[in-house]
Amino acid sequence: MLWVLICVPECVSGFPLLGHPADWNGPQLGLMRQRGLACIGIHHYRKYCQQALTVPNHPSWMFWLDDQGLGVREIHVQAPQPVRVDFVDATLQWRIRHGGGFGEMLARACRIRPNEPIRICDATAGWCQDTSLLLSLGAEVWLCERSTWMQWLIEDGILRAAHDPEHRCTWLGQLHWTAMSALHWLPSVGRGACDVVYLDPMYPDRQRQARPSKAMAVLHQMLPDDLEQEPELLTSARQVAKQRVVVKRPRHAPFMAEIQPHHQVLGQSSRFDIYLP
Ligand SMILES: C[S@@+](CC[C@H](N)C(=O)[O-])C[C@H]1O[C@@H](n2cnc3c(N)ncnc32)[C@H](O)[C@@H]1O
Repeated sequence: MLWVLICVPECVSGFPLLGHPADWNGPQLGLMRQRGLACIGIHHYRKYCQQALTVPNHPSWMFWLDDQGLGVREIHVQAPQPVRVDFVDATLQWRIRHGGGFGEMLARACRIRPNEPIRICDATAGWCQDTSLLLSLGAEVWLCERSTWMQWLIEDGILRAAHDPEHRCTWLGQLHWTAMSALHWLPSVGRGACDVVYLDPMYPDRQRQARPSKAMAVLHQMLPDDLEQEPELLTSARQVAKQRVVVKRPRHAPFMAEIQPHHQVLGQSSRFDIYLP
C-alpha cells in the first residue's frame, strides 16, 4: 500500500490522523511515528490537497513517503516528483566513475588525496550531495543539520542506504550524524577535532541562479537564508579545523562575513573560499 505522510507546520497543525497506526510498518514509518507525524492514506490525498491549497499566499509542502523512501514535494496535483536525500545518487556515481572524484572542485578545495585519511565536518548538510561525494572519496565525515524537517529527510536517507541490499553503502561506517545546529555542535567538539570544516550555508543569491537544481530550489523556498549567523559560524569552524575551512559561495557573492579567504578554487557558477585556522 502507498502511504502519504503529511507534515506542514502551519497548514496541518491539528490535522487528524487518518491512517491506522496498526498499518504502519518499516523503518521509515517507525521513525516517523516516533516523531508523532500524521499519516494519511493515498485515497485522502486529493481531499487534503484541496484543503491545503485554500491557505492563501502560503507555500504548501508535504512529506511524501512511498517505497522509494521519504521525500518532500509541493501540494498540488501536478507537483514534480519528491526530492529525497540519496546517498547512492546515480548522477553522483556517474560523475565519480567518469573522471570526477578527486578532480571535483570540492575535493580539491578540501585537499582530499587517494589513500590519505581525512576527517571532514560538513556543518551544513542539506541534501547531503556534498557529503556523499566526500564519503565516496574515502573521507570520514561528521555531518550536522539544524533544520528539523531536513534532519528527518537525512535520517531517512541514512536508513535507506543502510538497508538497501543492492546498493549497500559501504561508506556509511565513515559517517557520524548529528541532528543539531553547527553553532552548538562545533564549540562542543574541541579545537582541531577535524582536518577540514566545510560550510555551505543558504545564500540568497542562489535564487537568482539561471538553473538551480530542483533540490536547491526546494531548500530556498522552505528555509530562510543563513547570512545572520555567518560570522559566528566561520569563527567556530576555524577553531575546529586543523587544516582549513572551506566555504562554498555563488561565483560572484561577497565573502562570508566579509572576511577575505586565503585561497580560492573557482568554478563557473560557484567557488570555494579557503580559510586557514
Ligand atoms: C545550501 S544547503 C547545503 C547543501 C549541501 N551542501 C548539499 O550538498 O546538499 C544549506 C543547509 O545548511 C543548513 N544549515 C544552515 N545553518 C546551519 C547550522 N548552523 N547548522 C547546521 N546546519 C545549518 C540549512 O538548514 C540547509 O539545509
